[in-house]
Amino acid sequence: MIRIKSAFAIGIHAFPVDIEVDISNGLPQLIVVGLPDTSIKEARERVRTAIKNSGFPFPPDKITVNLAPADIKKEGAAFDFPIALGILACQGVVPSEKLSALTFLGELALDGTLRPLKGAIAITAGLKNHGFVLPADNAGEAALAQHATIYPVKSLREAVEFLLGDHPVEPVKKYPYENKTCCQGSVDFSEVRGQQTAKRALEIAVAGNHKILMIGPPGGGKTMLARRIPSILSPMDFEEALEITKIQSISGLLGERPGLVHERPFRSPHYTSSAVALAGGGTDPRPGEMSLAHGGVLFLDEFPEFRRDALETLRGPLEDGCITISRAKSQVTYPAHFLLVAAMNPCPCGHLGDSRKQCRCSLGQIRKYQSKVSGPVLDRIDIHIEVPSLSFQTLTSQEPAESSAVIRERVCECRKLQRSRYRLRSYKTNSQMSPRDIKEFATPDLQGRKLIEMAMKELHLSARAYYKVLKIARTIGDLAGCEQIQSEHIAEAIQYRSLDRQWWS
Ligand SMILES: Nc1ncnc2c1ncn2[C@@H]1O[C@H](COP(=O)(O)OP(=O)(O)OP(=O)(O)O)[C@@H](O)[C@H]1O
Ligand SMILES: [Mg+2]
Ligand SMILES: [Zn+2]
Repeated sequence: MIRIKSAFAIGIHAFPVDIEVDISNGLPQLIVVGLPDTSIKEARERVRTAIKNSGFPFPPDKITVNLAPADIKKEGAAFDFPIALGILACQGVVPSEKLSALTFLGELALDGTLRPLKGAIAITAGLKNHGFVLPADNAGEAALAQHATIYPVKSLREAVEFLLGDHPVEPVKKYPYENKTCCQGSVDFSEVRGQQTAKRALEIAVAGNHKILMIGPPGGGKTMLARRIPSILSPMDFEEALEITKIQSISGLLGERPGLVHERPFRSPHYTSSAVALAGGGTDPRPGEMSLAHGGVLFLDEFPEFRRDALETLRGPLEDGCITISRAKSQVTYPAHFLLVAAMNPCPCGHLGDSRKQCRCSLGQIRKYQSKVSGPVLDRIDIHIEVPSLSFQTLTSQEPAESSAVIRERVCECRKLQRSRYRLRSYKTNSQMSPRDIKEFATPDLQGRKLIEMAMKELHLSARAYYKVLKIARTIGDLAGCEQIQSEHIAEAIQYRSLDRQWWS
């Protein structure tokens, strides 16, 4: 019997698999056990044909293949390659002692070439194993796991020659991680005229990772502002980049030349998106938009137009930073910690509260429209701001506006401060502060305390809103480089909650 190592991924977590191959006398057939998936039948055909087409003998005996452990449901076609090698090793075509130190992954095409697999980086980064032999197309991505040596091969034949020592395969070179600080995208905040309050609020939201909702009449620039957020996001450290790369790898989004993802994601799903598209799922559960936005931004434009059930799926991830997709027998958890940016009009016609145009909606229409955004979701949003329509003067003014690079500089400084403050915590940003940490890091000075006490009474702020104000004030203080939160920081933070009262009372 031959034993050969392989692995697979559930979500972004890797699981090792031992593949045992045994050839015995009996009716010629290939039996695979421990793979309850439908891919089992297809695997049998692919393996048989690929071995023959690569010019190797296929034994006319009973072949039994066992994938251990048997109790985990395995998916995907990445076991073709190791199963084929195991069969060849049983026949003495490849030396079995060469197999034991390596882990093999890959799907076989009928002609014996190796097809790339999804989630290669999740497997190589998640296992302690050192040597991997896998499809050349996955090599760049797989080699991002710093401890792993990756041998890229193109076909079953090439792999056999490599194991026989006839064909040397160079392991993939490791490149040091560069913390690139290039500005993302081609758009810039300097193109947005006026809207100082909105820009300031977005800077605070990005700096402290506070969820934000923009409300305003059509044409004020909400979509325009949101689309410029990628240009002020801070760079990622290696761990963050790796996690995002894993998610994109599992989703098959890495594209032609897979490598480490350097840019934080910015996802803007359309409002017709289903709950599954947002949360993830399907028979072979794929990450949804919320997980694809992990580490970056999820922009929900025309917020109230989203389907109610789709919006409800936001609640869990907004609280926990991850999402669990349940299926018949198993469940998959994907990370989903993103900055939520939402935009909406205040009413169906869009002009409620607009100084330039009269709203024509009835009170009932307005109520109905606003209630589409459910209370629980709204309650989890930290910052609400109004984005008013622009006057002609502002729109045509030549006054230079601040560039994204300058804003981004401040965001990066602020993130650095937070990282050092929370170095012993499991989180990195002010928005995630626990109530106990709020006491330690976000207690305002005496005047600030008086101010927030007054606001609680006058504006009827909820307990949740109280903590949100303190967290936002912490970010405002950090942007100003102040250790102690002062009353001016509290005052500004309260402004970002005042819409509670205005629209939803
Ligand atoms: N502040 C601004 N500075 C410069 N141009 C602007 C500004 N606001 C809007 N515009 C122009 O108007 C267009 C429409 O703006 P945008 O789509 O961002 O509005 P919106 O607030 O998202 O409207 P809606 O509520 O209808 O979605 C922009 O593409 C841009 O050309
Ligand atoms: Mg818009
Ligand atoms: Zn209206």
